Amino acid sequence: MDVTVKSKRYNPDAERPQVDWQEYPISIDENATVLDALIMIREEVDGTLSLRCSCRSSICGSCAMRINGQAMLACNTKVSDFEENGNIKLLVEPPGNMPVIKDLVVDFVPFWSKVKSVDPWLKSSHPPKYMEEHIASNESMLHLSGVMGCIMCGACVSDCTVLEVDKSFLGPAALAKAYRFVSDPRDDSTKFRLKALEKPSGMWDCT
Ligand code: FES
Repeated sequence: MDVTVKSKRYNPDAERPQVDWQEYPISIDENATVLDALIMIREEVDGTLSLRCSCRSSICGSCAMRINGQAMLACNTKVSDFEENGNIKLLVEPPGNMPVIKDLVVDFVPFWSKVKSVDPWLKSSHPPKYMEEHIASNESMLHLSGVMGCIMCGACVSDCTVLEVDKSFLGPAALAKAYRFVSDPRDDSTKFRLKALEKPSGMWDCT
């Protein structure tokens, strides 16, 4: 399968650092993912292309990037999904709303600072005794399974339209993490948490 991958390039160490696009025509297996294609380019065509990945199984969240304009996990996206009239063109960019370090790699420090700012841990005045479990019923936790399954890849932050115009906005990942603890029946800091989320750049700034 022939594919043209066009990747955004940025090298901060260049004499005159600037954002550029580079095209890589490659031949790849029809079941390949976008991440397979990028790894192939890095290993066989251009070793200077920087990207981040680890598990290749949609678990670690490190391969989030914009593919044809939309944030996705590169390891969970098939190249053939983008076939149009027998042609496949892939436009890959780093995730948006985060500072670019090099090519497809972004700085996650602002992302993690916002997640940390919502105190992402259980606060309970009735903690379990040593070696005992802090049990909640299955029913009371079911509605949290979506946010608890979040792999913190930053795809939602990448495509957040509020963050496009206001970098101080807490953002969807940190708000989802906050919701995970606000709605946990074992947590008893709900009032305190909601008070903090009410501040400017908090939950009410979400569209
Ligand atoms: Fe881990 Fe894609 S490489 S989620």
